[in-house]
Amino acid sequence: MPPFALVTGTSSGIGQAVARELLTRGWEVAGLARRAAPIDDPAYHHHLFDLADSGALPALVSDLCARYGIADRPRAGLVNNAAVVGELTGADRLDPRRLLATQAVNLVAPVFLAGAFVHRCPSSVPLRVVNVSTGAATRAFPGMTAYASSKAALRMAGMVMGSELDAAPTGRDVAILSFEPGVVDTAMQVTARSTPQAEFPSADLFVGFHQQGMLIPPEGPARAIADFLESNGQPHFAERRFGG
Ligand SMILES: NC(=O)c1ccc[n+]([C@@H]2O[C@H](COP(=O)([O-])OP(=O)(O)OC[C@H]3O[C@@H](n4cnc5c(N)ncnc54)[C@H](OP(=O)(O)O)[C@@H]3O)[C@@H](O)[C@H]2O)c1
Repeated sequence: MPPFALVTGTSSGIGQAVARELLTRGWEVAGLARRAAPIDDPAYHHHLFDLADSGALPALVSDLCARYGIADRPRAGLVNNAAVVGELTGADRLDPRRLLATQAVNLVAPVFLAGAFVHRCPSSVPLRVVNVSTGAATRAFPGMTAYASSKAALRMAGMVMGSELDAAPTGRDVAILSFEPGVVDTAMQVTARSTPQAEFPSADLFVGFHQQGMLIPPEGPARAIADFLESNGQPHFAERRFGG
């Protein structure tokens, strides 16, 4: 049986590039998103799923683990890639329901999926988890409260999970990576630079990334994520920035 990975957010951007990269390396991949993914490969299986539907996550994991038999794989991976940029505006203007929806997709879903994979993967199966992070998780940019707070909390959740694995009485070959992909040419960047400066005080920063040709294609970060999924001898938690 080939190694197996669940990649969230495969309908576009970095997630789609990760799925394609893993498929070229012989992995079997389950991808999920609200839209379809234009990936035509017998080893790719798409699941239409809205990660904002927190109550449906346990059934999703049960279904995926049984369907793809992760307990029988030589290796398993989880790439928590899907995210929304959320409301790009001052914290004094945030809508509480939209804030909660952003946290559901960017924080609740990836933390639950990571915990469920750790719980369900037998100790005989090496497990690698990548939480796709951002520079905004550790540096403050005006107008990014919703997105940045969700990613900062996801980063810390990975650290706490790593500490739990460190403290576990029996060693597990589980490694969690908080990974900053850099400034990547995807729909999320288009949203950030298209939001009016009057609404989003950091809009000019994103316009500048584009004008100065700083955006990189998603394939580079995707290769780095796939390399991590295939790697050995990792600590239970680490963080890296693409190209850094
Ligand atoms: N682009 C950058 O410069 C940059 C920089 C730092 C970090 N990142 C991170 O990179 C990751 C990928 O983003 P991207 O840049 O590739 O943006 P993207 O092209 O907008 O991709 C986002 C993906 O997430 C999925 N998604 C969003 N909401 C979802 C939901 N409710 N349920 C299921 N799937 C959902 C989308 O699929 P559907 O819309 O079909 O559901 C899409 O496949 C994100 O975690 C982002 O925070 C990006």
